[in-house]
Amino acid sequence: MAKEPAEHSDSYDDYQPDPGSAVERSNAPQNPGLPEEEHRITDKDPKAARTAERRIAMFFGLSVVGSIFATVAYVVFPIIPGDMTSVRLNNGLMGLGITLGLLGIGFGAVYWAKNLMSDEEMVEERHPTRGDDETREKASQIFTDANKESGFTRRSLVRNSLIGALLATPIPAVVLFRDLAPPENPSKLMKQTMWDQGVRLARDPSGEPIRAADVTIGSAFHVIPEGLKEIKSGKLEEKAKAAVLLMRLPIEDLNESEARKGWSYQGIVAYSKICTHVGCPVALYEQHTHHLLCPCHQSQFDVSNECEVIFGPAARPLPQLPITVDAEGYLVAQGDFTEPVGPSFWEREL
Ligand code: FES
Repeated sequence: MAKEPAEHSDSYDDYQPDPGSAVERSNAPQNPGLPEEEHRITDKDPKAARTAERRIAMFFGLSVVGSIFATVAYVVFPIIPGDMTSVRLNNGLMGLGITLGLLGIGFGAVYWAKNLMSDEEMVEERHPTRGDDETREKASQIFTDANKESGFTRRSLVRNSLIGALLATPIPAVVLFRDLAPPENPSKLMKQTMWDQGVRLARDPSGEPIRAADVTIGSAFHVIPEGLKEIKSGKLEEKAKAAVLLMRLPIEDLNESEARKGWSYQGIVAYSKICTHVGCPVALYEQHTHHLLCPCHQSQFDVSNECEVIFGPAARPLPQLPITVDAEGYLVAQGDFTEPVGPSFWEREL
């Protein structure tokens, strides 16, 4: 039986392996040891240390200037819609400011580490990875030593300028992120679409109004509100909310609840095309089963049962658009959707 090395032993000198399993270590590399330590000028000369300290503060100060510059540039040189020169100027100046802000912190930290933090080479002995009280105490001691060696609390100029730089750096990001939010309450935006009483259902993308007589049993139409093409701005946003799928089923296949009687016209039904999972267009219709499939994550909706979810991650049915026909036989909306279209998140506001 081989003799095991003593637990936590630093030496294997008394280790006796099994005969036949021992590996002979011939020409094993010798530990070259550590080269003689050379002290830096900042370790030897307090004047040089103070100069280094001022340089570090200068880098951090530069970072503050860069961050403020980026913020000011964003406000003073705004992006004017349709003007590419303003886009270039805005992005260029902001990029310059943010670069300066980040580089200032980076250069300052590296310069600090290379010139003022402790330069002593240390050997960390191996120890069990399990943390015990002693290890925790050591870890806390390491932080205390690091604080002492870096002079974080002692060198108040460096510390305060670093804190200032770190506080100033996120300012441009905060200003930029603010602009990502829509100007109005997003829930309200999702609740209102272009559909209104009497708005004709039109083919996507031609914008041609659809007669009820054109919708044969088994067919499916991609639909937009008539007049969408004439909108000057925000056309895509409106389309993204108002897109509808129109299908005609044999009337006997439609199971309509009492509340929705009259929302369809002779077996023609219209449902939002925006998946209630995360908003992909539900574009695949299987006419034999009357199922709609969202290709993103395979949610399936049963058109014959008010588009209830029969498979997949979507949490609620597709909203139905109540429709009828006008005097000329064109399909028209009876009004807007009665619930927000799109991902279920918006349902919380109902
Ligand atoms: S977006 Fe339709 S299933 Fe995910």
